[in-house]
Amino acid sequence: SAQLNDLAVSAGLKYFGTALSEGTINSDGTYASILNSKSNFGQLVPENGMKWDSTEPNRGSFNFNSGDITANQAKKNGQGLRCHTLIWYSQLPGWVSGGSWNRDSLTSVMSTHISNVMGHYKGQCYAWDVVNEAASDDGGWRPSVFYNTFGTDYFAIAFNLAKSADPNAKLYYNDYNLEYNAAKTDRAVTIVKTIQAAGAPIDGVGFQGHLIVGSTPSRSALATTLRRFTALGLEVAYTELDIRHSSLPASSSALAAQGNDYANVVGSCLDVDGCIGVTIWGFTDKVSWVPGTFPGSGAALLWDENYNKKPAWTSVSSVL
Ligand code: XIL
Repeated sequence: SAQLNDLAVSAGLKYFGTALSEGTINSDGTYASILNSKSNFGQLVPENGMKWDSTEPNRGSFNFNSGDITANQAKKNGQGLRCHTLIWYSQLPGWVSGGSWNRDSLTSVMSTHISNVMGHYKGQCYAWDVVNEAASDDGGWRPSVFYNTFGTDYFAIAFNLAKSADPNAKLYYNDYNLEYNAAKTDRAVTIVKTIQAAGAPIDGVGFQGHLIVGSTPSRSALATTLRRFTALGLEVAYTELDIRHSSLPASSSALAAQGNDYANVVGSCLDVDGCIGVTIWGFTDKVSWVPGTFPGSGAALLWDENYNKKPAWTSVSSVL
């Protein structure tokens, strides 16, 4: 029977993808066999391996061991690669976040980081998340060493540096809770317009899609929100989709509701010209960041802890 990436491609998307957990792939054969199937996943993204604390833990000393796990796996399987992420306040080593910088010195640090990391993966990344999570949840600016040093000027600086480092990669702004079409979404629109007004390149906006069963917007509301960005000339994608239960264990009606929410998210991407693909943030409830980050919540993915396909898998396969 048909699997999710094959169905997604037939339905007109570029891919259905997943994050790869670097700590799991080499120790769990069932995990690896599902992930390595291009019929399941046409594209991979490293869960952690390409982040700053992993790639440049000390100034000027680069380490690609963890990032290469995903890049090599994608290459071996003929899968695409999303690359994540360059400029983010989190998983940022203390030498950056706690440094005392001015505009020149921090530009130099950003330039060295972006040119080395993007240079290492040059030609392999369909897209890079150049800037991640720059808006705060209330729709303001999220404080970071970048915002505190440059104000909003760091957006154009980062996207211009990224363009020079790998001219063929699609350059994305990526954030969560944009799905609700509220103040944070407005802020993301401002970010895009700020980059465009500065004459800097931006190709896409990533909707992370860390959602909650029962609170996920409808398919048509989601499509309306995606179109705010395609109207600016960009592509969009769901980049980190998971839909968590806020109480566990999930009843059979909660599992059905989760499937309905998943179908609405994937369906909204099908409905919008310029929505190019869907990536889930892991595929099995055995390996997910959700329970550790949202205590009491979980079971957010399409395969259960024993690698059985859940009702949500069937809902996604039916909508594709
Ligand atoms: C998460 C990973 O899943 C965890 O393993 C890690 O401990 C923290 O980061 N937004 C993002 C992702 O852009 O990089 C985050 O990934 C989840 C939220």
